[in-house]
Amino acid sequence: MPLEHASISPFDRGFIFGDGVYEGLRSFRGKMVGMERHIARMRDGLREARIDWDPSPLTRMSEELIKACAMPDAFVYWQVTRGTPGPGQPVRSRVPAGRMTPTVFGYCTPQPPIEKFVNADPPTVTCAVCEDTRWSRGHLKSISLLGNVIAAIEADEAGAQDAILVKNGLVGEGTAANLILVHGRQIVTPSLESVPILAGVTRAMDLDVAPEIVSRPVKVEELASASELMLTGTTTMITSITQVDGRPVGDGKPGPVARSLLARLTRAIAVELGFGDIVERIRVDTLSPWSSPVSASR
Ligand SMILES: Cc1ncc(COP(=O)(O)O)c(C=O)c1O
Repeated sequence: MPLEHASISPFDRGFIFGDGVYEGLRSFRGKMVGMERHIARMRDGLREARIDWDPSPLTRMSEELIKACAMPDAFVYWQVTRGTPGPGQPVRSRVPAGRMTPTVFGYCTPQPPIEKFVNADPPTVTCAVCEDTRWSRGHLKSISLLGNVIAAIEADEAGAQDAILVKNGLVGEGTAANLILVHGRQIVTPSLESVPILAGVTRAMDLDVAPEIVSRPVKVEELASASELMLTGTTTMITSITQVDGRPVGDGKPGPVARSLLARLTRAIAVELGFGDIVERIRVDTLSPWSSPVSASR
């Protein structure tokens, strides 16, 4: 429906309590990426939150939305809250009183086409290291993003574009993406057991296309000695972090691993969505930058 016709009660528990979960999706040429994983993650989150809604139709709903908006290359957002208490039901009761119908809200915004990522250098971003003060259910894609918002504002105040969140001396993730670093000959991503971070769908795709990535606890000191740092996420794809706290990472430019991971990820998406023209256009030399194989252990 037109935005001006959309309305939500101010007593919706999403608005009052941040009581809901969300997913951020990506479409290329009208086709949705990685939906099996996105739907599984949303189903797990809804179950943990005890919100009774079945996310199975999310692919069809997303396709309908981007079609109605004539937006084939898009970011698609879905938010499911517990709903609004009925007449006479308490608004501030933490335990939901009685049955509510979940509120489901979605929108989309335009994004670049897949061609932007073909044989291209990764985009870049600068980061500041910030303390991760968020809750311990980082795996749950909660709509309550205040911890992420405060960290992003702290990074902005420090003159950086995003924050790298660190908890108890261990590296976690960005405020809206997961993290990958190149340390010595190893390509590493913080393990999901070591820090309360989101199990990113893109992170999982990266592990598929680059099984040499090691998932392990990452100490904060490793940030300073990493030759490459990158963020990875649904719209972030692979974005090179060129500066941390004002110091250049490596030579301050996107490195060969970032370039290769972006090529592999783009190729995997093109294969998944059946874009043969894109698969053909990706230069083979962009796919493998490593001079010798690194550890294949996870
Ligand atoms: C905190 C955080 N970590 C990681 C990600 C990346 O997840 P995905 O690859 O599923 O988009 C996101 C995406 O929004 C995020 O908000």
